[in-house]
Amino acid sequence: MTLWGGRFQSSLDPQAWALNASLSFDRRLGQQDVRASQAWANALQAAGVIDAQENERIHAGLQQVGHELQQGTFAFQPGDEDIHTAVERRLGEILGPLAGKLHTGRSRNDQVATDLRLWLLDHLPELESALIDLQSALVMRAEADHGTLLPGYTHLQRAQPVLLSHWWLSFFWPLQRDRERLANLVKLTAVLPLGSGALAGTPYPIDRFALAKNLGFDRPSPNSIDAVADRDFVAEFLFCAALTGIHLSKLAEAVILFSTTEFGYIELPDQYATGSSLMPQKKNPDVFELARGKAGSLIGLLSGLLATLKGLPSSYDKDLQEDKLPLFQAFDTLGVVLPVLAGALRTLRIYPERMQAGLEAGLMATDLADYLVAKGVPFREAHTVVGKVVVWAAQQARSLAELELAEYQALHPSFTADVYRVFDPWASVARREVTGGTAPAAVATQLELAKTALQNRLISTGEQES
Ligand code: ARG
Repeated sequence: MTLWGGRFQSSLDPQAWALNASLSFDRRLGQQDVRASQAWANALQAAGVIDAQENERIHAGLQQVGHELQQGTFAFQPGDEDIHTAVERRLGEILGPLAGKLHTGRSRNDQVATDLRLWLLDHLPELESALIDLQSALVMRAEADHGTLLPGYTHLQRAQPVLLSHWWLSFFWPLQRDRERLANLVKLTAVLPLGSGALAGTPYPIDRFALAKNLGFDRPSPNSIDAVADRDFVAEFLFCAALTGIHLSKLAEAVILFSTTEFGYIELPDQYATGSSLMPQKKNPDVFELARGKAGSLIGLLSGLLATLKGLPSSYDKDLQEDKLPLFQAFDTLGVVLPVLAGALRTLRIYPERMQAGLEAGLMATDLADYLVAKGVPFREAHTVVGKVVVWAAQQARSLAELELAEYQALHPSFTADVYRVFDPWASVARREVTGGTAPAAVATQLELAKTALQNRLISTGEQES
């Protein structure tokens, strides 16, 4: 059964049917389709299109449909073009001709846009939970690894000592921003298209404010032509997902790098590493590489949808059916990657002594310049002097800590015997007590902020449909 057979004399070519049909993927909207239909039935009753008894029967019928979908007992038919058709067809089997009244004043155009928004609103809390779980794994690491320093890098060159806790938390905050972005997306998504009809608005006196409230939306859409075409919420979700993917990719890349023999800072837990079919010694970071690789796919999903949207003229076009697969795929991808990364972070092993070994005196070159600044030397001059110290030490193949005081003094008279204190990496981090800095006290404050952020869900978990 199609919902539009009346004007046609022959049925759709089978291959055209296969292209046109969307049931294989939009069946995931089943519960949302039922819920939106029940709300629409209420609106039809309020508008005097159906009476209370009819509404009650439609509700009960839809409830049965929803139940069958949930239990997996719903028998899809080869002729079900999409989930809306399937639900309506089944309702017809249950109720008879009364089911035909449900679609009064409604189009699949406003229906599908409503269903998809509902689906996203239903599922965003789940995604936030997965993000929170990964954040809490990072907090766990930050707490467990509090007494450890490692070389911080810029340009992948050793730069300055930092607290390992600080480093872990540097991956926490991007995820916090991801949650904030998703919370903003809720506002954008909670605008109701239903009542827009095919494009011109429904001719029945539907109270769209009541309808919006009934479905948990903030307000009705202000323009029916825009409402059936607007997939900004999908594009924004895909952007959010892509950016989260990029954050996960960066974290994965950092762990991969630190787990190489060359760094040796991290060892992957067996449960999250894979072997080689040829080389018995290998312990490969496949799951981290996949986390990194999935970011590419997520970016592709966003690009794909944007390309689909860009050429559309106005109101609904069937191109818009291409919105669902990327949305579901992006959601599913994050649902797989996030818990794996959280589990791996919780169980990986760190090698503090290897990190410590990387903290050569050269990483305190900036502190050495600041030492001269404390003695009244302008920073630019101090920077030049320390540059000369570094070159001198390199020529001797000695570290900064191994130079004699006389050698220092030959380069600047302000150096005195206390210069060697500069090379304590703990002293270096302790000096960075500024808000957001790497000093243990500052990181302790940051950790408290992170824990508070973890306590506060930004997206409320309402009723959740599957
Ligand atoms: N399966 C369609 C979609 O996902 C439903 C809307 C169909 N509307 C139409 N005018 N053919 O977009």
